[in-house]
Amino acid sequence: MEIESIKRIYNGYSRVYDKLFKRFFYPRIKHAITYMDIKPGDRILDVGVGTGLSLSVFPRYCSVVGIDLSKEMLKKAKEKIEANKLDNITILEMDAMSVGFEDDSFDKVFISHVVSVVPDPYRVMAEVKRVCRNGGQVVIVNHFASENKIMAGIEKMFNPVCKKIGWRSDLRFDEFIRRSGLRVEKKYKLKRFDLWDMVFAINVK
Ligand SMILES: C[S@@+](CC[C@H](N)C(=O)[O-])C[C@H]1O[C@@H](n2cnc3c(N)ncnc32)[C@H](O)[C@@H]1O
Repeated sequence: MEIESIKRIYNGYSRVYDKLFKRFFYPRIKHAITYMDIKPGDRILDVGVGTGLSLSVFPRYCSVVGIDLSKEMLKKAKEKIEANKLDNITILEMDAMSVGFEDDSFDKVFISHVVSVVPDPYRVMAEVKRVCRNGGQVVIVNHFASENKIMAGIEKMFNPVCKKIGWRSDLRFDEFIRRSGLRVEKKYKLKRFDLWDMVFAINVK
C-alpha cells in the first residue's frame, strides 16, 4: 500500500477508530505494555501510535515519543494527552520508514497493530533497530499469517480485501523475524483463538 493511501485510510478512521477497534485492540496493548520491562527513565518509542490507545498505559516514570503518519489519528492522541495530563509523552507526525532520530535514541520500542499496515515492514524494522539501543526491548503486537495451511490459504485469499481497508493478512512470522534480525524471547496469543500475537524481542545490532 502507498503512503498516501495509508494516510487517507487512517485519517478517515480517526473519528471512529476507538469506537470500532478499542474493544479488540486495547486488551492486547494494555497487556503488552504492562509486561514490558519498563524502568524509571526509560526512553520509549511508540511506532504508529494512532489515536493513542496505548498512552495512558505507559508508566509516568518513563518518557514516550509516539510517531504516526496520520495527522487526524495524532489529533485524537493529542486529546488523550491533554485530557490525562500525560506530560511524559510527545507525539510527532513522522514516517516510520524514515525516523528522524539518531541511532540508539531509545531503550525500548512498542509497535502495535502497525507492522502489517506499513508499505515496507522491513524498512520500518531497520529503523526500529537503528534507533533502539543494542540490547533494548522491542515489543510487537501484530497479526501474522496462520501456521495452519488451510487458514493461511484463506488469509492469503482475503489479502486484497484487507489491503483495501488498511492492512495485509499474509505476513509470515518466521520470515519477518529472520529478516528483521530480532532475538525473540516470547511469542504468544492472549486468547487461544486470537488473530494477533504478542512478541517480546531483544534488539541485536
Ligand atoms: C491499526 S493502526 C494502530 C494504531 C495503534 N498502534 C493501536 O494499536 O491502536 C495503524 C497506525 O499505523 C499508522 N501508520 C501506517 N503507516 C505508517 C508509517 N509508515 N509511519 C508511521 N505510522 C504509520 C497509521 O496511520 C495508523 O495510525
